[in-house]
Amino acid sequence: MAIDIKIEIEKKPSVRLSKVAVSETHGEDSPYFAGWKAYDENPYHETCNPSGVIQMGLAENQVSFDMLEQYLDQNSNNGISSSGFRENALFQDYHGLLCFRKAMASFMEQIRGGRAKFNPERVVITAGATAANELLTFIIANPGDALLVPTPYYPGFDRDLRWRTGVKIVPVHCDSSNNFEITPAALDAAYEEAEANNISVRGLLITNPSNPLGATIKHAALEQILDFAVRRNIHLVSDEIYSGSAFSPDEFVSVAEVLESRGYRDSERVHIVYSLSKDLGLPGFRVGTIYSYNDDVLTTARRMSSFTLISSQTQQLLATMLSDVDFTQNYIKTNRQRLNKRYDMIIDGLGEIGIECLNGNAGLFCWMNLSSLLKETSKEEELELWKLILNEVKLNISPGSSCHCSDPGWFRVCFANMSEQTLQIALTRLGEFMKRRRP
Ligand SMILES: Cc1ncc(COP(=O)(O)O)c(C=O)c1O
Repeated sequence: MAIDIKIEIEKKPSVRLSKVAVSETHGEDSPYFAGWKAYDENPYHETCNPSGVIQMGLAENQVSFDMLEQYLDQNSNNGISSSGFRENALFQDYHGLLCFRKAMASFMEQIRGGRAKFNPERVVITAGATAANELLTFIIANPGDALLVPTPYYPGFDRDLRWRTGVKIVPVHCDSSNNFEITPAALDAAYEEAEANNISVRGLLITNPSNPLGATIKHAALEQILDFAVRRNIHLVSDEIYSGSAFSPDEFVSVAEVLESRGYRDSERVHIVYSLSKDLGLPGFRVGTIYSYNDDVLTTARRMSSFTLISSQTQQLLATMLSDVDFTQNYIKTNRQRLNKRYDMIIDGLGEIGIECLNGNAGLFCWMNLSSLLKETSKEEELELWKLILNEVKLNISPGSSCHCSDPGWFRVCFANMSEQTLQIALTRLGEFMKRRRP
């Protein structure tokens, strides 16, 4: 989480900054980030601050830390020993350690139940998926061009894809009428709208499983999405950062599987983004990858990755951990089960107080429908409700409008960044609120 430090040296005359620095496209003026601030100012703590704000706006996975800690305790010499120190200290090749790329490729295969193959030579390392998405945007689009992004989408994309690249986002509006599915008609409508505004669309970025929906995209829909990218001659970026969170391995279909099933036809336009921030719960390690089927994109991405490398010590540690197949198999399986259990717990709890969610099968969050509480169906009313829940109920959840959802009244609620007890307290608070709203 970024901390905003402002140093006021003198009021005038101010020294001018670059266009990028003063641009409004940093994306931070969103209720998504405002909610984090409210939490930071008054964070809930069981004993020290039991009436504080509970953070349900952060897609973190803490449910399997015990397994990682146990592994590290049992293998405490792996990764850093004085024998490897000199090599690690000096290694800064932007190809990354081969042992790490091999381990990442094999971990990505395991998550897909072995149904897709990944070549370590096609793995580009980046400091998290944030850097991977920005880097790909730099490579496939020019300033002023656009990427299509289906809504609702991860609020961070407003910053990651736009700010430094100067690229625009054209939303592909998906709504509750068909459970927010991405249809060819919605894709075409967005493309044609961009065209009518003289904006050149260079790519489509999907998130699968979707943040914020907590649902996977089915095989047939993925095929249609790829067909659309081919028909319009644009790139397809598939952000699969939540792939390991699908509650059952069979329910997640990677775009890599779709390519495999069609003999890698049209693969030169496809790029996968992955990171360990969600599946291993390690956002602080800043470990991400671009997997591209396009040789030119690969060469450029690797060169550009100089700006966002992963420290060799981190690569070494994770190479050892991810090469331990017994550990990774057990981790992936147990982590899925625990997330599923958490999901059931929140869905049941919400159901008891009369709140429904979209049917989910993945992710660290659920997509909650509070539209019946709105006085009128508008974004303004949704934000009023959000403020009430933040200030009165002391829960930070993310309003759908911060994800550019066109249907007012939906909220993303994260459930894997806290203990079961805290989740229960959040549900109790919400239950009392519902009683007051609907006596
Ligand atoms: C869809 C999506 N992409 C990218 C990111 C950024 O991930 P990272 O921590 O790997 O940069 C997130 C984080 O929430 C996300 O939800």
